[in-house]
Amino acid sequence: MKSRCALLLAGLLISGGAAAATDSVPKNYRLYCMGCHQADGTGSPANGIPSMRDEVGHFLRVPGGRAYLSQVPGTLHTPLSDAETAALLSWVMVNIGRSSTPADFQPYTAAEVKNYRATVPDDIPGLRVKLLRELEQGAPAR
Ligand code: HEC
Repeated sequence: MKSRCALLLAGLLISGGAAAATDSVPKNYRLYCMGCHQADGTGSPANGIPSMRDEVGHFLRVPGGRAYLSQVPGTLHTPLSDAETAALLSWVMVNIGRSSTPADFQPYTAAEVKNYRATVPDDIPGLRVKLLRELEQGAPAR
């Protein structure tokens, strides 16, 4: 009986832990991103904060775009770990990028974010302009 109890408890702890890990992703968005990007990701284009809602996923269609999304200052300078940032970015692509995010999107991994963080190009705004131009020229219309 005792061991069954222990098992049950262990199970509860594990599922509790998993729930906390999932909840922490939208919480991190609220803490670290929402101030600029708004709860729904629409940002404030008039103030230079682009809308990500139904748009941000398009960057995944051009070479360098996937890296760019984890190299913008907001993502780069969070106090979050590589793993937390990977989970947060993946959440953003699915929940805010929504229809713009390609159906075959693979979640970011911690190793990937670590690598992108170590190789940030100097001119991020310039990179954004370049990626948008490439998207305009070559992305499949949606
Ligand atoms: C201080 C305001 C601010 C905060 C906080 C912030 N961002 Fe941003 N974000 C911006 C601005 C401004 C841009 C436009 C690109 C640029 O100029 O750097 C941007 C661009 C982006 C982009 C690329 C979208 C595009 O259209 O270029 C992503 C993805 C992004 N941010 C994610 C995040 C995430 C995730 C967080 C939270 C961890 C975050 N940002 C926090 C201001 C912010």
